[in-house]
Amino acid sequence: MSAGVRFEPTGPLRGKVTAPPDKSVSHRAALLAAMSAEPVGIHNYLDSADTNATLRALRSLGVVVESRPDELLVRGTGLRNPAEVTGALDVGNAGTLMRLLPGWLAAQPGGMWRIDGDDSIRRRPVDRIAEPLERMGARIEARDGRFAPFTVVGASLRGLDYELPVASAQVKSCVLIAGLTAQQRTTVREPAPSRDHTERLLARAGVPVSRAEGAVTISGVDELELDDVHVPGDLSSAAFLLVAGVLVRGSRVTVRGTGVNWTRTGLLRILARMGGTLEGELEAPGARSDLEPTADLTAVAGPLRGTVVEPEEVPLAIDELPLLALLGCFADGITEVRGAGELRVKESDRISSVVEGLRALGADIEATADGFAVTGTGGLRGGRIESRGDHRLAMLGAVAGAASREGVEVVGMEAAAVSYPGFADDLARLAR
Ligand code: S3P
Repeated sequence: MSAGVRFEPTGPLRGKVTAPPDKSVSHRAALLAAMSAEPVGIHNYLDSADTNATLRALRSLGVVVESRPDELLVRGTGLRNPAEVTGALDVGNAGTLMRLLPGWLAAQPGGMWRIDGDDSIRRRPVDRIAEPLERMGARIEARDGRFAPFTVVGASLRGLDYELPVASAQVKSCVLIAGLTAQQRTTVREPAPSRDHTERLLARAGVPVSRAEGAVTISGVDELELDDVHVPGDLSSAAFLLVAGVLVRGSRVTVRGTGVNWTRTGLLRILARMGGTLEGELEAPGARSDLEPTADLTAVAGPLRGTVVEPEEVPLAIDELPLLALLGCFADGITEVRGAGELRVKESDRISSVVEGLRALGADIEATADGFAVTGTGGLRGGRIESRGDHRLAMLGAVAGAASREGVEVVGMEAAAVSYPGFADDLARLAR
């Protein structure tokens, strides 16, 4: 194993940092801008490996992206004119790009595109988007029927009433985007709510969107008319600093400008149940705003008690579940996550990578078929953790190090650049 980056136990974390721009919203803003009739300015677009892969792919499709001092100006091709590409579109490590972009391409009669990515992306299933897209009339030819590289053969699509087998914002978004050119309405039904950034942006682009309990319906349009987009701060990135603030004794950490869309703040509600102290106004449940609210969030260190995270809470905290495992190490009693089998198909198998990673640092943690159970021991020894190329594992190791007794060496820390290139600097700033 090569040498990693060390994160030593710190004194109290104090101060304020600004949340990096939201990755999910950045991908969607760029994609919908590319599909728009008129140029769209995007403010606060995330500059990271994943979101830059989106810009590269869109440029290959004939979209002009101009980087200006305070905005990204996207001159799209409109709904129907992405260019043909020689070779494959490279999505890098970006699962959201791999699942959303085919929604647009599948709706182009006579068009054909090949999509590929890195080793991790080649292990992540695409049959979950292939199935609904084929029912709408497109063809997807994937390696072994379910993995990248795959080819999208476009067609004139029919609307679909689709029941998602598992709650997934990526699949929901893909189907809604594919439905934009259909004559019929498209409905997606979810077993539990998942992030709704696509619905909000589509409504702002003039698409008729109606939302009911567990379902979203759109009608097709001739063109998207999207005004400038301001990307909120990323709750999933801010969560690493907020959890560090809760865990490191004496800390008080503020993360400014964090997106607090209700469909993203599941971790914060679970944390409150564990007894964690968090200040800042979150969006209320069931909010139907088309905008993305933000708030300054402050976490204060204090004791925690274990909790059970039920399956319906999972999609609202999916990317924060690794942090929940870490919180569980410090909490009184047992913390258990149920119904989170989706973790197995993230950038790494996040059940085994989190369980094996934290156990190597001294955690009392067991994997289950669809989650994990941690017995709190009041702290964590420290040691060495391998990111497995997974950005959230890398940042988890760093936060674990700051809160541990002996420090943590993170091997593969560079993976953090996928979503939060300035993470280690921000953590260090709070420790000063
Ligand atoms: C995302 C949705 C989630 C999440 C991923 C980003 C999105 O995936 O884990 O990091 O931007 O839509 P699923 O929709 O597959 O659960």
